[in-house]
Amino acid sequence: MNVAVVGAAGYAGGELLRLLYQHPEVRECVASSRSRGGAPVADAHPALAAISDARFASATPGEIASGRDVVFLCLEHGESSRVAAEVFAAGPRLVVDLAADFRVRDRALYERYYGPHAAAELLPRFCYALADVLGPALRGAGALAVPGCFATAAQLALYPLARAGLDLSPSMFAVTGSSGAGVQPKPATHHPARAHNLFAYSVLGHRHEAEVLQSWREWIGRPDAAARLMTHSGPFVRGIYLSLHGYLPPGRAVSAGGPGTAAATWFREAYVGRPFVRILDAPPELTHAVGTNYALIHAVESEDGAEVQVTVAIDNLVKGAAGQAIQAMNLALGIDEQAGLKGGGMFPC
Ligand SMILES: NC(=O)c1ccc[n+]([C@@H]2O[C@H](COP(=O)([O-])OP(=O)(O)OC[C@H]3O[C@@H](n4cnc5c(N)ncnc54)[C@H](OP(=O)(O)O)[C@@H]3O)[C@@H](O)[C@H]2O)c1
Repeated sequence: MNVAVVGAAGYAGGELLRLLYQHPEVRECVASSRSRGGAPVADAHPALAAISDARFASATPGEIASGRDVVFLCLEHGESSRVAAEVFAAGPRLVVDLAADFRVRDRALYERYYGPHAAAELLPRFCYALADVLGPALRGAGALAVPGCFATAAQLALYPLARAGLDLSPSMFAVTGSSGAGVQPKPATHHPARAHNLFAYSVLGHRHEAEVLQSWREWIGRPDAAARLMTHSGPFVRGIYLSLHGYLPPGRAVSAGGPGTAAATWFREAYVGRPFVRILDAPPELTHAVGTNYALIHAVESEDGAEVQVTVAIDNLVKGAAGQAIQAMNLALGIDEQAGLKGGGMFPC
């Protein structure tokens, strides 16, 4: 395959390059940057120096897309809306967008969180690519909108509950590392502000809630169903750690395995045969997911069956961005879902 990564000087783009350079089906991988055209890729991503001496191209997204099988867009919010038409016009087999521009089909829901859409006419071309849930259903898609990092962790916690018919109003407390905020330093992402610190942000309205609500309402079959995402900045670089809590409808937590095992059964059944979801017997630790495309999940109900708690750990740049994008590409093109993604993580890290 001949692929291009547009916006490759950023963190999500760099992670895509790391994985695509080692993908068994990728023959050529071109990286573009507005600001770093002509410079070695390793200037922006020093950890890639050992595996690539490539340089960034400065061509426009349309030019870079020409003649490619797959084009990944890893651009700041709003840029994908601006360049998507020229990328489609270049005729790649598959466009994979990592930004939020094309994730939310419901215009009113999108506008509540993001304001007016700049390219709404292109929304129907995109398939929302929650790879661990949709799996082979992504086969044949021509454009993929990759879920956000918080949204991936949240939906992987919610999906088995919806599948079990549990119409809850769940609350999800989630903490992200600083790489979630992109490569440009900002006052709230600067090291002295983040290290040894923890704070809430986007209170009662984080943008990823839009795509979480879209899926939860669709799965539950109730257009006014509620789910709340409470987002926090944590003192680490990579990863998202999310805990979901919900009150269960009476009499629902019944399992042949005895009290406390119903929730684990819902999750094991929902993800049977899904290679990148691991259901654990104890809450996961963040560092065990870092560097991998795995979602580590623990689910348990209280002894009286009245409450459920689900914990999810993912790497925001792999499962929450580049890894899921490649997994979805593999599925869309009908190649091995795990190609290029089989590597384990690092511990300690
Ligand atoms: N970081 C995460 O954990 C994460 C997770 C999931 C999804 N995402 C999404 O992925 C996207 C990228 O995130 P990020 O964290 O990688 O952001 P980032 O570090 O700020 O990188 C964005 C990159 O886009 C490039 N760019 C912007 N316009 C361009 C254009 N017209 N042509 C070529 N390059 C262009 C910029 O590089 P130049 O100025 O050099 O061109 C910059 O390096 C965002 O939409 C984000 O929401 C991020």
